[in-house]
Amino acid sequence: MNAQDAPHRWPDALDEAVRATNGLFTRSIVLAETDSTQDAARRMRAGVGTIITTLRQTKGRGRLGRAWADTAEHGIAVTFCLPADLALRATLIAPVAVAETLASFINYPVGIKWPNDVVVDSRKIAGVLIERFDDAIAHLGIGINIAQTDWPAELAHRAISLHQLGANDVSRLAVLTRLTTTLAACFNRPDDDIASAFRSRDVLTGSVATFLHDGREVRGRVGEVDPARGLRVETESGPIWLPALTTSVVPPAE
Ligand code: BTN
Repeated sequence: MNAQDAPHRWPDALDEAVRATNGLFTRSIVLAETDSTQDAARRMRAGVGTIITTLRQTKGRGRLGRAWADTAEHGIAVTFCLPADLALRATLIAPVAVAETLASFINYPVGIKWPNDVVVDSRKIAGVLIERFDDAIAHLGIGINIAQTDWPAELAHRAISLHQLGANDVSRLAVLTRLTTTLAACFNRPDDDIASAFRSRDVLTGSVATFLHDGREVRGRVGEVDPARGLRVETESGPIWLPALTTSVVPPAE
């Protein structure tokens, strides 16, 4: 383990990052191990403003019930408890904040694959999951690959970590604290600015892709991303807007 990542450093370093968020976040909780920080946040009834992270997440969840690999001591798993009315803005802000944070550590282009993947060289380095269980809180879950050096066979061609991109002296804690302050700063940026930051990193625009929305597949050429309406897809029967919170990309058959 990177010495900067020593467990005793996490609470103070995160509290310092929390203080730099101008009140968006108010406290942090570091769990030694948990199944999923999303589920931990629900179980603990963590209030708006709470950040829950863990030194090891064993049973993380992705979108549409997919699994997120055990982080072991290598990945970041964090849930930011936001006011529910920020959930929609978070669909663009979170991937932009993650991409800008990661780009500050490496010399590779960091892309965003709408709606929730952050990618480098077509491989996933981070994922975003936004869930709402009541009218008050949105749980913004972020998983980031930091120090993994190898992957299970099924992920080997699809996943990548910061260390595999040459940033092998970067600690999880350094990334997490920078992500926290970057995320808060992004919520203070105008929507137009975030939308253009998103578009400049978007890797899907112009491609033909298949999406799953409301239980049905939608296929077409990907057009613009709009903060409120989601993604515009030009289908055979005309344009359709797909909302980020309820749509996912169907991976091409291998
Ligand atoms: C995806 O790519 O489908 C989203 C992955 C989100 C994973 C993160 S890790 C922290 C938080 N806790 C979870 O159980 N999931 C999210």
